[in-house]
Amino acid sequence: MKAGVAAALLTHYDRHARALPWRVPPGSAERPDPYRVWLSEVMLQQTTVAAVIPYFAAFTTRWPTVTALASAEDAEVMAAWAGLGYYARARNLLACARVVAGQHGGRFPDTEEGLRALPGIGGYTAAAIAAIAFSRRAVVVDANVERVVSRLFAIEAPLPTSRPAIRDATDAITPERRAGDFAQAMMDLGSSLCLPRNPQCLLCPLRESCAAHLEGRAEAYPVKPPKKDKPHRLGRVWWLERADGYVWIERREAKRMLGGMTGLPTSAWDKRDSDKRSPSKPEPPLAGEWTALNQPVDHVFTHFRLTLTVERLRVTDARPEGAGQWWPLARIGEAGLPTLFAKVARAVMEGGDD
Ligand code: ADE
Repeated sequence: MKAGVAAALLTHYDRHARALPWRVPPGSAERPDPYRVWLSEVMLQQTTVAAVIPYFAAFTTRWPTVTALASAEDAEVMAAWAGLGYYARARNLLACARVVAGQHGGRFPDTEEGLRALPGIGGYTAAAIAAIAFSRRAVVVDANVERVVSRLFAIEAPLPTSRPAIRDATDAITPERRAGDFAQAMMDLGSSLCLPRNPQCLLCPLRESCAAHLEGRAEAYPVKPPKKDKPHRLGRVWWLERADGYVWIERREAKRMLGGMTGLPTSAWDKRDSDKRSPSKPEPPLAGEWTALNQPVDHVFTHFRLTLTVERLRVTDARPEGAGQWWPLARIGEAGLPTLFAKVARAVMEGGDD
């Protein structure tokens, strides 16, 4: 039914492929490096190409092979990942590098099944690496592909109910050869022309086959379920500063949100409703006259919104009991703070005096 889609798209890709640091140009004799393909795919989960590019450059310069990455210290990798978000990816990245280096002689498995057995590699990532790095025919569906395919086939069911139908439809148009280029061409189409709003149908190489365009309502797809508000959680964060220009930072326990990252001490993050019933009053790292900044810090995670009240205390020589360290304020940008805590630091430093 959609004969010719793959051919039209690949012809377009041959002329318009984005040059990205983990790709080889279409038609080139060179094969992409599976390490770079894997690293880029993990970084690109839930993250834009523009945000990933500098991190990808920093990682591949510092750790040019999977074996080099496998022998890095956990804390170095977590700090290098700081700001990219979804930190479970960084922990899985290291776990995966160590399995590939330790159990596969530094070579990635070259099938979807073998790739899926590695830490942090789910169905999407296994398919993407198998197709892009190893030229396997695999059905690769990310959010861009979902949009393109639900338009091509005018799939009426809302997401996520429509996922199996989208997968089957993608399977039906995926070619035997050049499945990796096809997948990346679909992603490029989704990020350049087949945009969520104002899709550029007149420039699209698939417009004649596109059911949504032929209906004149490309923008209506993918059909989305009604939006639910994210739950809201509240907490406190403690900015403990030493008069000679240091702030107290900690490494967060593995099982908490942002586990393994450096952070500032915080209370538990309670759901707003359960706040009143909170069994224990949260304790700051040190007793003293803490003062709250006027402005709380807001941050949006995937499944909830968080508002932290920032409390501040300045000391001369006291030291908290728990594990942590004094970090020089002048080098706060190098502490490896994830975005939430970087926002707190900015609020304190710009918010001025107590
Ligand atoms: N998003 C996920 N993987 C990608 C890739 N290989 N190229 C461009 N965008 C992507």
